[in-house]
Amino acid sequence: MKHNMNLFASTRKQLTHYNSGMLIIFLLLFNIVISLVLFLITYHEQRMELFDIGKQEINELNMDIDEYPGGQNQENPLVPSINKTKGIFLTYFLKPNHRLIIIDEYSSKIREPIFKNVKNWKPDKMGFKFLRIELSEKDSHYLFLVSQNIYQNGKRKGTIYIGKDITYLITMYFHFLFILLGISLIFFVIALLVGHTMTKQAIKPIIKAYTLQSEFIANVSHELRTPLSVLQSGLEAIDFEEGKHFSPIAKNILSDLQEEVRSTTQLVNHLLYLIRSDSGEQPTKKENFDLLILLQQIIRSFQRLSESKDIKLDLLTLHPLPIYTDKENIKQLLYILIDNALKYTPNGGNVCISYEQKDEILTIVVQDNGIGISSEQQQHIFDRFYRADKSRSRQTGSSGLGLSIGKSIIESLHGTIKVSSKLNAGSKFFIMIPLPNR
Ligand SMILES: Nc1ncnc2c1ncn2[C@@H]1O[C@H](COP(=O)(O)OP(=O)(O)O)[C@@H](O)[C@H]1O
Ligand SMILES: [Mg+2]
Repeated sequence: MKHNMNLFASTRKQLTHYNSGMLIIFLLLFNIVISLVLFLITYHEQRMELFDIGKQEINELNMDIDEYPGGQNQENPLVPSINKTKGIFLTYFLKPNHRLIIIDEYSSKIREPIFKNVKNWKPDKMGFKFLRIELSEKDSHYLFLVSQNIYQNGKRKGTIYIGKDITYLITMYFHFLFILLGISLIFFVIALLVGHTMTKQAIKPIIKAYTLQSEFIANVSHELRTPLSVLQSGLEAIDFEEGKHFSPIAKNILSDLQEEVRSTTQLVNHLLYLIRSDSGEQPTKKENFDLLILLQQIIRSFQRLSESKDIKLDLLTLHPLPIYTDKENIKQLLYILIDNALKYTPNGGNVCISYEQKDEILTIVVQDNGIGISSEQQQHIFDRFYRADKSRSRQTGSSGLGLSIGKSIIESLHGTIKVSSKLNAGSKFFIMIPLPNR
């Protein structure tokens, strides 16, 4: 079950990644919305509060400003003391003659930075500003500031400035953001762990169903092999014993039957191979053999087919080559490639096979001058069930499994398979297998 387990593990990983991706987006959105809402509410509330204080103060000042003693740094008994508790940082009254009456002040140091910021700011309706002033390196303040001109009998008496320190709110806001992020992070980790175990649970029935189905296909394929081989040898025997006496029609039927049995046997073999290699039950069995002899055998078994299509099937290399590798798999691989070459080459064509061993690499080439494969199709021909020309499949009995099996065989031998082909000119398949000196 090695391959399957990898497949399921990667599916599980993908699922977990997908879920956590969604979760991160969701948590981020949640954080952004919460922080934004909190920010807007606080901002609005603080502003409103300051406006209220401003209005109240203006009313009081309107009545009393003329009698106001206004000495610098002098407490004024008229200023309502509640304002102090509401974080009021400063209350200035600036007369048109630039005389400043200080009603309330956090420290005399703030005067200069404040007036630098509010130069020429004398709104007739209550105006609002957000400021940051720095008194020293460690003492900086965020302020909400309101200001308004005060008139009496149509004459401007001066401008009032009221500031509120909101530094603590901003600090709190950042603390809140920090905590929110921390909590989100913890939730994220928890969700990740839960998600991981949940996908594991979710994938269990899929694994079970997949395994059952694989076993079913394996059993059916296995059961089909025996009757197919009985059929095949029976047809061969009939052909051998009585073939000569058959009418042309009967001969045709017989050869069609043989072809059908051959392609069905191949399909069953392919399915069995795929199921076994998927479940890791396809061990490589290496042995010593001569490649020349194997190729001659294979070519003999294709003799009938190539003759019926009038294709010249040639072995170009003729020197013995003793090698040590998985003979059965190499045989199946060559069957697949030669079968394709014959299948996809029109009558009267050529198919040739050659091989060489160089620097511990065995290269086998199967070349035809058939219909060829376009470059887009070349990217897919090694996929399972891919067939370049689907309409052809009925006549040629193709399933699109051959090359995918060929590739899987090559991979099990740590080799590579390559194709070079041009549409309507032919194809050349290269297989390269490392054969280390023992
Ligand atoms: N020698 C070849 N010449 C042209 N086309 C080929 C050749 N070999 C393979 N193909 C293309 O690649 C496809 C996949 O091949 P394969 O996996 O063996 O499936 P099948 O032969 O069952 O269709 C084929 O359907 C065919 O279109
Ligand atoms: Mg094929």
